[in-house]
Amino acid sequence: MSERVHAEMDGLTDEDLGEPLTYPVDAFISREYAAAEGELLWSKVWQMAARVEDIPKVGDFITYNIGDESIIIMRTAPERLKAYYNVCPHRGRQLINTPDDVNCVTGKRTTFVCAFHGWAFNREGQNIHVLDGDDWKGALSDERTCLSQVKVDTWGGWIYINMDPYCEPLRSFLSPAARILDHFEFEKMRYKWRQWTVYPCNWKTAIEAFMEPYHVAGTHPQLLKYGQYYAYSRPYGFHGVSGFDERDPGMKMSQSSSVTRAGLGDPRVSTYELARENYETVNYAASTETLVNAAKRLVDELPEGTPAPDVIKHWLASAKADDAARGVIWPEIPPEVMAEAGLAWSLFPNQTILQGVTFALCYRVRPYGDDPNKCIFESYALERFPEGSEPKAEWVHAAPTAENWGSVLAQDFANMQWVQKGMKSRGFRGPLPNPHQEQKITNFHRHLSRFMGRGAPRKLDMTGQHAGAAF
Ligand code: FES
Ligand SMILES: [Fe+2]
Repeated sequence: MSERVHAEMDGLTDEDLGEPLTYPVDAFISREYAAAEGELLWSKVWQMAARVEDIPKVGDFITYNIGDESIIIMRTAPERLKAYYNVCPHRGRQLINTPDDVNCVTGKRTTFVCAFHGWAFNREGQNIHVLDGDDWKGALSDERTCLSQVKVDTWGGWIYINMDPYCEPLRSFLSPAARILDHFEFEKMRYKWRQWTVYPCNWKTAIEAFMEPYHVAGTHPQLLKYGQYYAYSRPYGFHGVSGFDERDPGMKMSQSSSVTRAGLGDPRVSTYELARENYETVNYAASTETLVNAAKRLVDELPEGTPAPDVIKHWLASAKADDAARGVIWPEIPPEVMAEAGLAWSLFPNQTILQGVTFALCYRVRPYGDDPNKCIFESYALERFPEGSEPKAEWVHAAPTAENWGSVLAQDFANMQWVQKGMKSRGFRGPLPNPHQEQKITNFHRHLSRFMGRGAPRKLDMTGQHAGAAF
């Protein structure tokens, strides 16, 4: 459906997202809504299923589960991936068992043999064995016995799948966000660590906790000593970006990105302190060792009184040289692209990327079956490593504690489940997202409602009467 037709359906343009809006809360708490998502959202939308590095060799496969659905993604040739529904066409056994307590299943196969009656399939998904096939009297055509295919494509080193055979191409779905994000060359980054947990809130409650920096003052007050955190938030098609507003004097020198704030006070000191704080309290993900070490040297390398923009410039130049010396070459990103890239991107529906030049802190949240009160919460760090020295980072199941996830994530965890509970209250009149700083969230609900055919954001009644009752 074209953007114009969509806009006519709910009457909302990008500009309208700057107005006070609300949207219904049943998207978060209704069992019926959660079940409908399987039919109307997840079976229609491009979604990030894995990383290319998960299946590097021909024959490698990985499973991706979303709600009650399971997909197998297989490398069938050095440059080719295929994806199939994880189900045997005979009587429906999963070909690869996917237990609930495992994030995904990986392995290597020449053929898939169903464990129930032994039907077998080659890597291309064609059936190569049916026991006593003549019993079907010729009814078992190739089309009846092959695996059902799913669309698959890659971008930025991620593998995406789409169950809708008529979906738009991945590239057009990711536009215009990919125009900016391409510059960060995520495909050259590799996992540094990855963790997951089953968390007691809706998947949207969880992903929205990472869509806006408006919560910094309330949730992460320790960061306020580095400056103000007045945020902006902008739609980019289905997707959106947030960053810190130019109105924040602490951000004037910034080339954007989470790493390049100088903070308050002596910028030689505050740059180091902020880089170290970002690194250590966000589980060694929101910066790199190179950046932190180069920041540490600023007090020795620069005279007192060096203006903040010069401090940042020197810092980045020396970190870039340090990385080059160990074989990590920074991508050349034009300043205007860095500025537009902001702090963090939300790719519809459930992928978050907080990007740096050589790293990315990422989140993905999936529904847990069709339970509206649970989700599979995942976070992982990507980084550029010298070739051959990439760590082996497997999925680790980790309870949502500060020890496992770092103190900043623990602060976010300390909200999410209580938001989920609070939204069920009769006394909750409906969300009141900040029209300037939380546009990513209203844009998310705008696009979600288009898939779901209900729940579009609506303008608030400016008389002060709450709009929630209308829902
Ligand atoms: S269900 Fe797979 S062979 Fe019977
Ligand atoms: Fe947070």
